[in-house]
Amino acid sequence: LGDPLEQAKRAAAYKAVDENISLNYKYVGIGSGSTVVYIVERLSQLPLSKNFIYVPTSFQSKKLILDSGLRLSNVDDINIDSDHVLDITFDGADEVDTSLNCIKGGGACLFQEKLIASLSKNFIIVADYRKKSPSYLGVNWLKGIPIEVVPMAWSKIRNDLLNKFSANKVTLRQGGVNKAGPVVTDNGNFILDVEFGILDVDSFDLLKFNQQIKNLVGVVETGLFISMAKKAYFGHGDGSVSSIS
Ligand code: A5P
Repeated sequence: LGDPLEQAKRAAAYKAVDENISLNYKYVGIGSGSTVVYIVERLSQLPLSKNFIYVPTSFQSKKLILDSGLRLSNVDDINIDSDHVLDITFDGADEVDTSLNCIKGGGACLFQEKLIASLSKNFIIVADYRKKSPSYLGVNWLKGIPIEVVPMAWSKIRNDLLNKFSANKVTLRQGGVNKAGPVVTDNGNFILDVEFGILDVDSFDLLKFNQQIKNLVGVVETGLFISMAKKAYFGHGDGSVSSIS
């Protein structure tokens, strides 16, 4: 708990909740990853949290909601009768540029995260100082842009990304020491981590680029979240929090 990085994540999460939660809300989306743990921690401390229904973006966030004694629903159990049925969603990110475009999916949960974000009136990012980028994406990342793909299509999609999209490197994400073979997402798919180099928003259209990748047969969703976030909070090692909106 004395770890400055964890303090940075907690500070960003607490401020994001305190500044954005409202008694008028009904549905609150909970993102995935290590920073949203502090979102749920903060919400659980507030009496008004009992008024809301929480919608998870992964197995991990479902468990977080349940373990905190908060009310759980699921996106497929909600009657979707408008573009934005969720009042607000809090989520982490792997990289955020100054226009609030994000790279997400470092924890392999990007499809459900994008579904919930797309249904949310307010999509709020919480992150630590390492995730803040300048006006373009691609400087800060560790693994590239994650892309969720149907398993049998992974090799074909890798070939397309290398040859038609000029990707520098495409890696099928591996499970590591606790899992022989590839990571399998909550939706039963694989993740390709794709390095394109710097994505300069001034020199090309990120939305179009994202759409072209999505047009490849077998691509379920990409980790590019373009123009979706309304505000981002960044926690710093000294406990301070900065934000962009
Ligand atoms: C999950 O797949 C991701 O999109 C996370 O939201 C993102 O990787 C941020 O995670 P941390 O909060 O653990 O850095």
